[in-house]
Amino acid sequence: MTHRLTVIGTGYLGATHAACMADLGFEVLGLDVDQDKIARLAAGDLPVYEPGLEPVLQRNLASGRLRFTTSFEEAAEFGDVHFVCVGTPQKQGEYAADLSFVDAAIDSLAPHLKRPCLVVGKSTVPVGTAARLARKLAERAPAGADAVLAWNPEFLREGFAVKDTLHPDRIVVGLPADAEAATLAEKTLREVYATMTGEGTPFIVADYPTSELVKVAANAFLATKISFINAMAEVCEAAHADVTKLSEALSHDDRIGGKFLGPGLGFGGGCLPKDIRAFMARAGELGADQALTFLREVDEINIRRRIRMVDLARELLGGSFIGRTVGVLGAAFKPNSDDVRDSPALDVAASIRGQGARVTVYDPQAMPNARRAQPALDFGPSALDAARGAHVVLLLTEWSEFREMDPHALAEVVAEKNIVDGRNALDPDHWRAAGWNYRALGRP
Ligand code: UDX
Repeated sequence: MTHRLTVIGTGYLGATHAACMADLGFEVLGLDVDQDKIARLAAGDLPVYEPGLEPVLQRNLASGRLRFTTSFEEAAEFGDVHFVCVGTPQKQGEYAADLSFVDAAIDSLAPHLKRPCLVVGKSTVPVGTAARLARKLAERAPAGADAVLAWNPEFLREGFAVKDTLHPDRIVVGLPADAEAATLAEKTLREVYATMTGEGTPFIVADYPTSELVKVAANAFLATKISFINAMAEVCEAAHADVTKLSEALSHDDRIGGKFLGPGLGFGGGCLPKDIRAFMARAGELGADQALTFLREVDEINIRRRIRMVDLARELLGGSFIGRTVGVLGAAFKPNSDDVRDSPALDVAASIRGQGARVTVYDPQAMPNARRAQPALDFGPSALDAARGAHVVLLLTEWSEFREMDPHALAEVVAEKNIVDGRNALDPDHWRAAGWNYRALGRP
């Protein structure tokens, strides 16, 4: 049977999910409370930078399979499967996740649900949320118990959102305890994801709390892997060893693997930092905080990398930033994204500016977001402009444009040939041969 889908919340996750599901042939209605966002999406204008997503959006708008609305009533009328894709940011001044958007989505949708349907949560939530929302849904929906909730965490990465949505590593589905509701929910989701399972993607069925935990456990593991190699970088610095060689050697052990073992400035973005914090907060509420104390260390190792970067830059400038000029390459939290949420690059740039340097930043895609987040910084229209007159250049986000930079061309514009490679993205021999004082985190 073919289903009509709604996607509630059209941020990164929702916009991608809506466009990709329409591309698979479903009729999809995207909903957001932000009128501007909806107007832009309906016009085929993607509010975020995500390689490959805009054409998918545009061709499905043109075919009529994809539409957008701000009306929950229209969404309830239209769909028989409703995906909840709203954000769960970190609460101000706390570790816990802010669930107000998830609750608001259910509160707004439920009163309009008059016939049997499936509501599918995709947002990253603290364990226990699905069970609570299921009770709320049953209470508030006129369809009552015929409005069933399932939990289906999303693992997409920014920069690879289309590929990750259409070809996921696995599909995880958390089902209600009631057997009849669970069977119906599983059948519906198997139909929705038939293309993926047909390609051999594992379809893992679990209960609500396990499915919620899969997502945060995956992100905790990835964050731990990055902080592990960055802890090794700290030891390498003290021992005059090279963490990039160490990482390469470790990666050949199948049991370890090379992914997420890239040493450097560490992780940022809208997911890993806030997810590990929310995970610790939730474990505390459950009386299991001891199990996750190591995540506090993972977080601290990660933050120490940013401090070390600032210290290294200051050291290269003879101990003070006052009156000095610093060129910063990169503002996004990672390449192929315009996202600056908890960006290590912007954090370092702002800290150096705060210590008295003149800081000029360039990023291939994230300039508008970076300007909004850090208006006190200066911005240049190119890498050469950001580096002009600099006493030290910092490479903080490893865009391929920076990896391929010509050290001779950059040398022409700087005041002093000092470079710190915060992502271990450059070839030290190449840069040293061009007369640069090359430094990196975790390397002699
Ligand atoms: C992450 C998860 O990968 C994804 O599964 C989840 O759904 C959301 O969170 P994302 O935040 O898009 O995705 O970025 P990711 O590619 O995981 O990178 C996270 C951060 O780790 C970036 O700041 C990146 O620079 C850093 N990183 C990654 C490293 O420092 N070293 C590495 O080896 C890999």
